[in-house]
Amino acid sequence: MKKILVSPSLLAADFSRLGEELDRIEAAGADMLHLDVMDGILVPNISFGMPVIASLRKTSRMFFDVHIMIVDPIRYIDALAKAGADGVTFHIEAARDVGAVIDAIKGHGMKAGLTLKPGTPVSDLLPWLPRLDLALVMSVEPGFGGQSFMADMMDKVSAIRSQSLRAGNPDLIVQVDGGVDRTTATACGAAGADCLVAGSAVFGKADYAAEVAAIRAAAAAGWESR
Ligand code: DX5
Ligand code: ZN
Repeated sequence: MKKILVSPSLLAADFSRLGEELDRIEAAGADMLHLDVMDGILVPNISFGMPVIASLRKTSRMFFDVHIMIVDPIRYIDALAKAGADGVTFHIEAARDVGAVIDAIKGHGMKAGLTLKPGTPVSDLLPWLPRLDLALVMSVEPGFGGQSFMADMMDKVSAIRSQSLRAGNPDLIVQVDGGVDRTTATACGAAGADCLVAGSAVFGKADYAAEVAAIRAAAAAGWESR
């Protein structure tokens, strides 16, 4: 069975108990922790930033999968590395020089990810695949958790997966973020995604481990059906 990675989004956690939430999500078998950093300009919301990531870094050894929704992201790559990010995924719409941002992320030994909003064509992202560790398809308008899954974004996932093989990057992680739960995860896997972000489908539920396992199993079943 294909190993599907699950990256719970901290945005849906109880912010008054972040340390406990991290312990619980790690014990639940999550593969990474997704941290959404928003600037209030690229997206219409503000979440948290470096001080929070740095504090959490002291309490956790999980892979920190940081999704930055920030205009001109190159300004913050050094600070993210210092705060303890393991991977940084930035928006193609936000960067003036995409290659320079990828180089900056990798220059710090972090994994480089690139993402696009629902309205941005996947053809913009495909040329960058050979240089990426991760490609993220947004299946909601970025900015808020708890929105409905946009199933029509799965064509982008299929296009990225096929192109990653053609481009000689078969190990590319293809991630989906937004509205992912134990039902929609199947379509993600079927399209070729192997890493799923889930916020409201995991945090706030009684049994995090059960939710993580159900999402992973649904995506794996989708993947096997391809
Ligand atoms: C949205 C964020 C997501 C969000 C997902 O801008 O990028 O990571 O937390 O939340 P759910 O899983 O609730 O759609
Ligand atoms: Zn995200």
